[in-house]
Amino acid sequence: MVQFALPRNSKVGTGRTWPRPESAALREFRIYRWNPDDGRNPRTDTYFVDATDCGPMVLDGLIWIKNNIDPTLTFRRSCREGICGSCAMNINGQNTLACTRAMDLDDDLVRINPLPHQPVIKDLVPDLSNFYAQLAIIEPWLQTKTPTPQKEWRQSHEDREKLNGLYECILCACCSTSCPSYWWNSERFLGPAALLQAARWINDSRDEATGERLDILEDPFRLYRCHIILNCAKACPKGLNPSQAIAEIRLKLLGRKI
Ligand code: SF4
Ligand code: SF4
Ligand code: FES
Repeated sequence: MVQFALPRNSKVGTGRTWPRPESAALREFRIYRWNPDDGRNPRTDTYFVDATDCGPMVLDGLIWIKNNIDPTLTFRRSCREGICGSCAMNINGQNTLACTRAMDLDDDLVRINPLPHQPVIKDLVPDLSNFYAQLAIIEPWLQTKTPTPQKEWRQSHEDREKLNGLYECILCACCSTSCPSYWWNSERFLGPAALLQAARWINDSRDEATGERLDILEDPFRLYRCHIILNCAKACPKGLNPSQAIAEIRLKLLGRKI
């Protein structure tokens, strides 16, 4: 059975409330749990984190729970610095990185779900196979036709600046999984993350496959399912604007026709 993360799966039951540790500063975490091997429905477990005994970020709280209360809690993380993108999850209704979101949220209650609308592998781990397959479609690597220079592919400072706002993407999937168009057409619409990556290579002065890259995107679903709702820009933890990148690709395609 495939489980989808909220909001597609709205039938998440109340799960276990784990014992409170002795502490003057407790943070309540309500966390989505689902284990494909135990035959149970998804549930929300409640944990209390001793904020005096762990770091300030939501990821610190999750690691504290795993180390001190429940070793079965499953989530992805690697760098703890907002660089790898692996700790992306939905925290209090917002897709973001657990390692850069402070635990000290307004209501002292931290609600955590997996990234929305993706199949769940276990607990907070979404299956991003489709997301990566779509990234592969846009061929995110330098493509050239002229002979490789002896030393390096050179780029002027002005041309390098054209990659600002694009190269910083860490492929966390916060944007694509917050996009309603992507929720409903994720098999065919490439989504904001892959399209921002496409723009990154289309804008690269060293790349010599611009025409082919635009050909790949000239499709009613792959590109044009973006309705400029801007959830993607709101969700991006790196402050990027995939919607703007998508609009610029559209302009380039239009420019080829006139
Ligand atoms: S602007 Fe486009 S890509 Fe971004 S959330 Fe809206 S529909 Fe999705
Ligand atoms: S554009 Fe932002 S939200 Fe989207 S994958 Fe890249 S870093 Fe993550
Ligand atoms: S652990 Fe790498 S971005 Fe959060």
